[in-house]
Amino acid sequence: MPLHQLERRVGVGRQGASGTKRLFVTQRLFEDTVPAAFAGSSVQVDIRDADEPLRPVELSAHLAGYHGVVCQLTDRLDGSVLEANPQLEVVSNVAVGVDNIDLAAAARLQITVTNTPDVLTETTADLAIALMLAVARRVPEADSFLRRGSWSAWKLSPSLMGTDLYGKTLGLFGMGRIGNAVARRAVHGFGMHLLYASRSPLPSEQERALGATRVDLDELLGAADVVSLHAPLTRETRHVLGAAEFAAMKPSAILINTARGALVDESALAEALAGGQIWGAGLDVFEREPEVSPRLLAVAERLVLTPHVGSATLDTRRRMADVAVRDARAVLEGRPPAHPVST
Ligand code: GLV
Repeated sequence: MPLHQLERRVGVGRQGASGTKRLFVTQRLFEDTVPAAFAGSSVQVDIRDADEPLRPVELSAHLAGYHGVVCQLTDRLDGSVLEANPQLEVVSNVAVGVDNIDLAAAARLQITVTNTPDVLTETTADLAIALMLAVARRVPEADSFLRRGSWSAWKLSPSLMGTDLYGKTLGLFGMGRIGNAVARRAVHGFGMHLLYASRSPLPSEQERALGATRVDLDELLGAADVVSLHAPLTRETRHVLGAAEFAAMKPSAILINTARGALVDESALAEALAGGQIWGAGLDVFEREPEVSPRLLAVAERLVLTPHVGSATLDTRRRMADVAVRDARAVLEGRPPAHPVST
């Protein structure tokens, strides 16, 4: 397929040489990521010079003739894209979540899928804690209050009264790497008590060190002062929090979501916030990104919204890009990738 006018060719493979493996990078990475990771490689790498996704039908056509693709979480590699490209050997996602890829189709077609765990764990946990504090202490509201000139005097009982995290109960839904990193911060940094709901229990030593108790989701929702979501989006976890679950939460509770928007029924959440069923929320992810439901946007108090920036520090984003392209190279050169996703 001819090089698209927006693409750049970076790899050192002899173009068109038979047997040359070809890798398509769907969106811009950092300037030096591919040259550094592919030094000495014969893989030919084509980078699309854009930072928004192609529609699946365009992506599907673009992938013809490529053996691998490095994609981002905004690219949808659904079953039709993969089935139209059975020559693919690897789909390497520059993200830890892989809900943008049809894993069952990849397994059927024997396409290796890789992701970028580990490198973003601490950065994402930081944002979950930042959102907890921002909501609990109403930081964005306080900033706007001051800037618009509404601050007339120090008051014992200001309109922007917050709530403490210290000594409160944190309920984590999902206890993988990021859940764990949030737990460490909350328990050791903020003296919070810990409940968690997850498919597998923590090793008992770790449970003891964190003072963590594994409970089912119902119990967690009824007891937690802060509920923070750290599970992948799957058929089972879609809308795990809806109207019934918000009704089961404390009216003083805060919800934090830095995982995937569709874990939460966004309109039920807007209703729960507007109706005072829960106290506040901090959301970094949304059901239909980059759209945010107007009903959520209309909630003015104790709701902090950020645009899916959980892993967005320069060091972490560079590491994610690096891990993804190195794993794509590994597969195309016949070596095992560092981060295969089980499909
Ligand atoms: C970000 O959301 C990721 O999955 O890496």
